[in-house]
Amino acid sequence: METVTTIAAVRERVRGWRREGRRVAFVPTMGNLHAGHVSLIEAARRRGERFVASIFVNPMQFGPNEDFAHYPRTPREDERMLAAAGCNLMFMPEVNEIYPHGPERATRVEVPALSRMLEGEFRPGHFEGVSTVVAKLFHIVEPDVAVFGEKDFQQLTIIRRMVAELCMPVEIVAAPTVRDADGLAMSSRNQYLTADERALAPQIYAALQAAAKRVRSGDADFAGIERAGLLALESAGFRPDYFAVRQAADLGAPAPAARELVVLAAARLGKARLIDNVQVSRS
Ligand code: PAJ
Repeated sequence: METVTTIAAVRERVRGWRREGRRVAFVPTMGNLHAGHVSLIEAARRRGERFVASIFVNPMQFGPNEDFAHYPRTPREDERMLAAAGCNLMFMPEVNEIYPHGPERATRVEVPALSRMLEGEFRPGHFEGVSTVVAKLFHIVEPDVAVFGEKDFQQLTIIRRMVAELCMPVEIVAAPTVRDADGLAMSSRNQYLTADERALAPQIYAALQAAAKRVRSGDADFAGIERAGLLALESAGFRPDYFAVRQAADLGAPAPAARELVVLAAARLGKARLIDNVQVSRS
């Protein structure tokens, strides 16, 4: 695996593969890789012939009081994991390479229909940062296919919408959430949990599963299901931001006939803010 830091170097490598007729698959990340990220590379390997991963802690998607400065950065370990997973090219740019005029004044991409609800309500501007950097990375890498985790379900939905509405020639593939044995979704931010908090953390998944079970069994009292979810999280010691039952396709309130739903939650626990979701089909 080769590591490059410039846009020009990525373009040169990828265009070389293209000329050979290779299908290129791409996995964007912010680094500090864990088994969830590695599963994305494995999904990419089933769909392409050459693999690019990016590691870029994107300042535009962090709010002023968020953890940009302290976000865990482990580039050497990441490089080793990507090489072992069969990645061909790791793109690790500096902030200047992506935002030569600074992130504040940069050209932006926004998906307003989906980016202001749920996470967007509690992290204003977050998804504008995500869609902007992913659009830029797609233009830099020009992949045939890109893989995103269902762990960040709203992000995945926004990227799909952006690609459709901006007619970007890239196929978006969703990869299932990888969890620790006790159900906690893997996340770089789990490191912010103390041992006691870590023991409580799987309850967010338990609450989501309980809600999904009610939905699956035909219960359509979504407001009641959401209240029960919030209460379960509060009683367990979380400070929940939201607990919501939505349509999987567009994150809107469930229409009576909607079959494919998703239950999403975000909650603070100590210094960490955890997000998770469970998809559910009802008959
Ligand atoms: P990051 O949090 O590093 O996640 C990179 C990718 O890994 C995302 O698609 C995310 O959904 C996926 N992922 C994270 N934890 C996962 C888990 N436990 N199981 C499966 N997939 C998981 O998401 C971002 O970075 C950024 O917003 C980014 C898209 C790179 C734009 O900056």
